[in-house]
Amino acid sequence: MRIAMIGTGYVGLVSGACFADFGHQVTCVDKDTGKIDGLNGGVMPIWEPGLEALVKANATRGRLTFTTDLPAAVEGAEAVFIAVGTPTRRGDGHADLTFVFEAVRELAKVIAPGTVVVTKSTVPVGTGDEIENILRQEGVTEVSVASNPEFLREGAAIADFKHPDRIIVGAEEEHAREALREIYRPLFLNRAPILFTARRTAELIKYAANAFLAVKISFINEIADLCEAVDADVQDVARGIGLDNRIGPKFLHAGPGYGGSCFPKDTLALLQTAEGVGVAQRIVKTTVEVNDDRKIAMAERVARALGGEVKGKRIGVLGLAFKPNTDDMREAPSIPLIKGLIERGAEISAFDPVARLQAEAMFDGIEFADSAEAAAANADAVVIVTEWDEFRALDLGTLARSMRGKTLVDLRNVYDRGDAERAGLDYFGVGRGRLNPS
Ligand code: UGA
Repeated sequence: MRIAMIGTGYVGLVSGACFADFGHQVTCVDKDTGKIDGLNGGVMPIWEPGLEALVKANATRGRLTFTTDLPAAVEGAEAVFIAVGTPTRRGDGHADLTFVFEAVRELAKVIAPGTVVVTKSTVPVGTGDEIENILRQEGVTEVSVASNPEFLREGAAIADFKHPDRIIVGAEEEHAREALREIYRPLFLNRAPILFTARRTAELIKYAANAFLAVKISFINEIADLCEAVDADVQDVARGIGLDNRIGPKFLHAGPGYGGSCFPKDTLALLQTAEGVGVAQRIVKTTVEVNDDRKIAMAERVARALGGEVKGKRIGVLGLAFKPNTDDMREAPSIPLIKGLIERGAEISAFDPVARLQAEAMFDGIEFADSAEAAAANADAVVIVTEWDEFRALDLGTLARSMRGKTLVDLRNVYDRGDAERAGLDYFGVGRGRLNPS
């Protein structure tokens, strides 16, 4: 099929490249000339494992092209996906749909009857209806509007796209369902479940899914606090409850709070939707508060591990991106942590395998090291903030000897307390017994 993909952010670029890999003819459009020039020259705008190879392979085969010319991309397309950003609107937590509606107005000028317009951007309930209204106002008829939310995770985006737990299609017309069935056909052959729903339901499924995952994380983070007070181990609690199939083991890793471009934004937008219709969402509201407080509390946690005072202390921060395998710094727990430590007078030496460039634009007055070992050298404390694989296999003995102090704050529970202590370190994990070893 001929597909136009509007927006080459995470979702648009990965979806476009994967659709091309399924054998479709895909044109990706973006207003950002620099991004499109880069993509045409094989330069990826984001760091995502496997993406460059996938894009290059499909571009070489002529199935994947990039342009800034939206009318040219939409002309002749049987399906037009909208995958532009829906950031949090400044000041009120609503999803900002400016880019979505701009794209719709532009495509309305050229779209042919019979085309299916599909929202892949995360959009509030009712956005499909609004898109339909805009198209009608612009004189467009015989175009179906469907919702096909995306559930891929950064850092595992291609595998998630190609092996999804489910595909959700919200459509009101059989024609749109047929088109999406055809687009995703290679995945049905792999038995990926597809769920057809009403359009509004599909829009809500996306928010409900992200909110539920956020709830799970905040839940286990509060249980971790309890573990510290009653001398229990949250890793074992998570395993103990996760083995119950009704609960499941995933998204029960206690840590410094969730970040990224999705959970913080989508939980707020869900709350706005609910408020707009006068329905309480107390669980999600509390989840957001728990997470915001937790991220801010991490600097104090490091200070406590150092005896309460960080002024003049040198702290090696390992990991800046909001999660491993991405250079994305949006809402990363490292941001309030580092800011909080700087405010308390600490000196920071930070290392991240890929997010340095992004981080440099965010922090003033911190040092950037070229390796984990360099960040730890002469430090009073080392804090693991992002669980990059390369931080899982550090030589703790060598690390301890290179440090000035001996405090290891492991916000991702990557290490075993016994191993760290044998290496001569004072170990502070998350929810693993009493915070301060006696
Ligand atoms: C999330 C969802 O997992 C995807 O399904 C969804 O498509 C995406 O948002 C989106 O809406 O676009 P993503 O933000 O890329 O994906 O990353 P996650 O792996 O979900 O992690 C989000 C945050 O939660 C990270 O800061 C991570 O460290 C944290 N987390 C995750 C925990 O603290 N504990 C866990 O057990 C799992």
